[in-house]
Amino acid sequence: MAGVHGHGASHVRHVARLAAAGRVRFVAVADPRPPADGLLPDGVENFPDLGALLAAREIDVVVISTPIQTHVPLAELALRAGADVLLEKPPTASMAEFEQLSAVIAETGRSCQVGFQVAGSDAARTLASMVADGQLGELRGIGAVGAWVRAAEYWQRARWAGRRSLDGVAVVDGVVTNPFAHSTAAALMIDGSARADQVASVETELFRANPIEADDTSSVRIRTTRGTTVLTALTLCAEAPGAEPMVVVHGSAGRAVLRYPSDRLEITLGGRTTVTQYGRDDLLENLLDHRADPATLLLSPLAATGAFTRVVEAVRIADPPAEIPAELVRWQGEGPERRPVVLEVEKWVTRATEELALFSELGAPWAQPHTETEFG
Ligand SMILES: NC(=O)c1ccc[n+]([C@@H]2O[C@H](COP(=O)([O-])OP(=O)(O)OC[C@H]3O[C@@H](n4cnc5c(N)ncnc54)[C@H](O)[C@@H]3O)[C@@H](O)[C@H]2O)c1
Repeated sequence: MAGVHGHGASHVRHVARLAAAGRVRFVAVADPRPPADGLLPDGVENFPDLGALLAAREIDVVVISTPIQTHVPLAELALRAGADVLLEKPPTASMAEFEQLSAVIAETGRSCQVGFQVAGSDAARTLASMVADGQLGELRGIGAVGAWVRAAEYWQRARWAGRRSLDGVAVVDGVVTNPFAHSTAAALMIDGSARADQVASVETELFRANPIEADDTSSVRIRTTRGTTVLTALTLCAEAPGAEPMVVVHGSAGRAVLRYPSDRLEITLGGRTTVTQYGRDDLLENLLDHRADPATLLLSPLAATGAFTRVVEAVRIADPPAEIPAELVRWQGEGPERRPVVLEVEKWVTRATEELALFSELGAPWAQPHTETEFG
């Protein structure tokens, strides 16, 4: 395990459970900041960096849950040491890094699974096959909506948080590319357009209410080569906490709503709505199964995050996000709890994904003209 604080702590607990069940041997962790007392099971070693760990111990699988800008160097280190990797999302901060990592995977012949849990969701996979089979009729488009609350402590927890770049290195830690990365990745997966060459164009409208470099309230439109419009509308400045992200498929014959992480799928066909609760496969266990038998395919291989990475690239090269005018933002809470609420933002993100239109096209009061990136 590389990275044991933040999200990494949940990976540590998961690996510990797999070790207790006899599926893996939990050898060591690497993090420049020592783990919290009691986090590591007895006997698990602790190294200050992954290079030292890999030099000292023979390792089969490395889980990487570190800042975005460290993903590629650490994954490359692990793959070259002969390990397979579970790499947190977003896998890379640019298309160039994506190609670099893809080349290392090809050269070493090792596996790299990317931590998009939604790729293991039976609900998402069921919806993807319904779309592929045309069960919802002709596709009008796919919307992904996310409205969460993040306070000052979230942006202050690490130096890289909310940065577009750090010390000249791309980070691209905004609402589209990090917290709601799953939304875009899920929508592209459901369209059957997960590979990089399946994206025709990406339009971005990036805004921010927080005093950060990156975006916290954005709409993005992706046109896939099969002709689908994917519209994501996302904010971390919602009024109410706790809304579950949704992917909405608009078809000529019906409509589907995927909610994650609860994995509930709501299908409306012929005026009748059914709701089904699904389960999900774990990505680390899938990687172990793939190692044991290559006939078991990886659920989220790096290649299947290429289309998502096109979106990361478009966000990376877009103009910096425009600040939302102060009169449209209400601040609440104090100290680490202080957070902005963008007026009526829930209404605008919902409309964007229902109408498959960008904020500016809907007339959202903060919206400016957008940046379009064409991929040839
Ligand atoms: N899949 C998900 O649902 C999900 C959820 C949250 C975060 N994430 C991803 O997990 C990753 C970590 O996010 P976070 O919010 O926990 O970050 P964080 O900054 O809070 O924690 C990162 C950890 O990595 C350590 N670290 C930094 N550089 C390191 C290095 N070179 N080697 C080893 N350890 C190093 C830090 O000390 C820290 O413990 C990011 O890629 C993030 O996008 C995924």
